[in-house]
Amino acid sequence: MDGNGRWAAARGLPRIFGHRAGVEAARRVVEAAPGAGVSILTLFAFSSDNWRRPPAEVDALMRLMGSYLQNETPRCIEQGVRLEVIGRRDRLDSALTSAIARAEAATAHGRRLRLRIAVDYSGRDAILAAARGIPELSRDALELAIGPAVDLLIRTGGERRLSDFLLWESAYAELVFTRTMWPDFGATDLAAAVRDFHSRDRRFGAVPPPAPRREQAWLD
Ligand code: IPE
Ligand code: MG
Repeated sequence: MDGNGRWAAARGLPRIFGHRAGVEAARRVVEAAPGAGVSILTLFAFSSDNWRRPPAEVDALMRLMGSYLQNETPRCIEQGVRLEVIGRRDRLDSALTSAIARAEAATAHGRRLRLRIAVDYSGRDAILAAARGIPELSRDALELAIGPAVDLLIRTGGERRLSDFLLWESAYAELVFTRTMWPDFGATDLAAAVRDFHSRDRRFGAVPPPAPRREQAWLD
């Protein structure tokens, strides 16, 4: 979810207006995800490096997160969305951590979409934390501890980098970079990214299967 600040600046508005519009975009995308064939959606709401932003903006983002959780919980229950928050919790305000716990508990039965919101999240820290909890470290054990592999990673706002997001899980992710600012992103953009994903040949390091010989093709 990148481009909120620039979206606001382009309209002569303070950055927080962009963040508010970004919440609307998140709502649209969550609603559109199951229909687009997405069963797990992870939104990067606040990176561990975003603490470097001016305190007023950090504060506004945290408040928005709290109100999003509160407002969206009934809608999530209605739409079968199971909400969970990934990232560190020890640096969050206690009101926010309780709001997270309430939203997670209330939506725990959702089966249509698993919505993961990354808050105070760092992919590198997530790998370290997962590794620390594993007595006998192996690739399988880490994979199990860290969370589902990413199939499609979409970055809005024109930047073409991962910025410490789901690093391990994105080992074979298909990357889609779009210049669209996050507040302008919607169901159509999601559908286009999913179409792009399906058009790609995913080989996971293997070679493509040989083309069938002519007579075989004929028999098929
Ligand atoms: C939203 O966009 C991402 C968040 C951390 C909430 P930005 O705030 O990064 O917006 P730009 O990149 O300055 O336009
Ligand atoms: Mg940005």
